Amino acid sequence: MAPLVDPYDGAVGEPVVGGRKVLRAIVVEDEDDDAFLLLRELKRVFDAHCELVSTPERLREALSRGPWDIVISDWSLPSFNGLEAFEIVREMGEDLPFIIVSGTIAEEAAVQALRAGVHDFMTKGRFARLVPAIERELRDARVRREKRLAEQRLAMQRVETERSERLLRSVLQAVPDGVIVVDAEGHIVVWSAGADAIIGMPRAEIELSEWPSHYGIHLSDRKTLASREDLAIAKALTGVAVDREERFLRNAKVSGVWLSVSARPLRAADGSITGAVGVFHDTTQERSAQEQLMISDRMASVGMLAAGVAHEINNPLGAALLNLEIAHEILGESPERAAESELRASIVDARSAVARVHAIVGDLRIFSRHEDGAAVSADVRSALESSLRMAFNEIRHRARVVKDYQPAPIVSGSEARLGQVFLNLLVNAAQAIAEGNIDANTIRVATRTDEVGRAVVEVSDSGSGIAAEALPHLFSPFYTTKPPGIGTGLGLPICQRIVTQMGGEIHVESVIGEGTTFRVLLPAAAPTGPSSGHAAHAAARAPTSLRRGRILVVDDEPMLAAAIRRVLVSQHDVVTTTRAVDALDKLRSGATFDVIFCDLMMPQVTGMELYARIESEFPEHASRVVFLTGGAFTQAARDFLARVSNPTLEKPIDRNGLLALVSERVKASSCSGGG
Ligand SMILES: Nc1ncnc2c1ncn2[C@@H]1O[C@H](COP(=O)(O)OP(=O)(O)OP(=O)(O)O)[C@@H](O)[C@H]1O
Ligand SMILES: [Mg+2]
Repeated sequence: MAPLVDPYDGAVGEPVVGGRKVLRAIVVEDEDDDAFLLLRELKRVFDAHCELVSTPERLREALSRGPWDIVISDWSLPSFNGLEAFEIVREMGEDLPFIIVSGTIAEEAAVQALRAGVHDFMTKGRFARLVPAIERELRDARVRREKRLAEQRLAMQRVETERSERLLRSVLQAVPDGVIVVDAEGHIVVWSAGADAIIGMPRAEIELSEWPSHYGIHLSDRKTLASREDLAIAKALTGVAVDREERFLRNAKVSGVWLSVSARPLRAADGSITGAVGVFHDTTQERSAQEQLMISDRMASVGMLAAGVAHEINNPLGAALLNLEIAHEILGESPERAAESELRASIVDARSAVARVHAIVGDLRIFSRHEDGAAVSADVRSALESSLRMAFNEIRHRARVVKDYQPAPIVSGSEARLGQVFLNLLVNAAQAIAEGNIDANTIRVATRTDEVGRAVVEVSDSGSGIAAEALPHLFSPFYTTKPPGIGTGLGLPICQRIVTQMGGEIHVESVIGEGTTFRVLLPAAAPTGPSSGHAAHAAARAPTSLRRGRILVVDDEPMLAAAIRRVLVSQHDVVTTTRAVDALDKLRSGATFDVIFCDLMMPQVTGMELYARIESEFPEHASRVVFLTGGAFTQAARDFLARVSNPTLEKPIDRNGLLALVSERVKASSCSGGG
């Protein structure tokens, strides 16, 4: 804004030339003699610059060429009178001193003129009063001008103040963050709209010490109510700058909001603290994104570990299982020998022990599978059974397991992930029961169908129970009452995520000292045709083949290759190798095979690479490849299996399944003229 300038400033009577004050005057007069006398009088006292006018037009024109210090006017002129001259001056917006000097004026007219605002009135020829009157009028005019300017400045300041207040108000209205300003005593001076929105309640005229309980301000453990000293704004009042402190807000209006709070002291020019400003924003969403990431991380690392262990155990396990079955069969041919019946019993036991290891490894592997939710269906009971096996170690010193299985529908989703849900619930149940009093405690698992056809799975325990105030937090990541190393507080959030992804719900009921029930509700899968299952199962009851087949087994685990050979050798000719290059050499030297068993994950040349070579060099053999997998856990391997139509056999290999598959494929290859 342009600064206010007084056009008269310093000019009015002030400049002094040759010891005399400058006076710029308009003289309204038509009589030359009178004008002469007046001008002479003025020039005697002032350094006077006068303009003589005698018509309204000339007066207007002279005024427009201002600035002027004064107008001295005759009362009666031929074309107008003194009052009209005065009106012209006012009309042109001039607050010029206006003095009438007249020879003839009725008293009445004089009164009229003074009423209209003419500043003074005197008779011609009596100049004794003129100069003091002019000086007084100049002084008064200056005072008037100064007052006017001061008023104008004040008005503009008011406008300016109003404008900045409006700006501040609209900023406070617009910022999504909460902004609060308090004075030195902690009374609220500013409270932004964002503060209302985040806190969920309006400002209250209360002491700072009452803020935590009134607004529900908690420390970052989410449980401890903050004290006055914990408030960022209170710290700032003591001169401390606070940056991004985490606070948790829970009150009647908001059920849980994370805040990042900063505050600064406000100081007067002398440095004394006059108040404090606090700024805070809602970080709940950022936090939950971060938490989801940590949950995914944990799920991924458990999956990786499980898949790795499963893969390592599978090969030796497969060999052991097949060899035990062969041994059992050989013995089975001579049942009359008594000494061997002991041996047979041992083998049966060993086989069932190995079968249990097989089941556990299978359970481990379900953690690493990445079935896409919609495509697969899961049996809640089998997921529950496998979780029970895995949690058995946690449970067995604490409680008896009671099973109440009523029919429940197949649900759509991954059995692996469902297994994770039940495992977390069972481990929690076990951990809620103290060790040692097995007979007095139970963990009950139940399945049934609810009234709208959903599968219901309940895991109940007779453990400690959960306090009512803890219930709302159970599914929040990192909420745990267990010591570090025992609990991370991710179990239930993972459960909830998996269950909701499957379109289901998870609920909890608990009574302190009596126990807890977690209930999982899952929508039934849409009905489908008969399950396709694994090739091995589909072919399990295929008729034996008519001729001896030629079989190639490529697996980097020699024990497993040898075991497969032993199973097949009575009915087929079997060649084994541990290296993909040897397999290619055999094909290149002209050998043909009805079935090529090929391990998918081999260290040098993988099964996928071997398949690509066979496909390009011996295309007629490509469809005869059967892949052996120990849990295809790389993405490349999963993609590969999804792309090719060849059958796969999962390790550990089932003996009957293997025989049936080979018979079927040898027969098929005979029909297509392959052998
Ligand atoms: N069956 C239960 N009985 C009593 N308290 C339970 C039960 N299940 C869960 N809780 C309570 O809920 C909290 C959160 O469980 P959650 O499974 O999410 O984490 P955690 O078991 O503490 O740790 P993590 O599962 O990550 O090892 C537990 O710390 C415990 O206080
Ligand atoms: Mg847990």
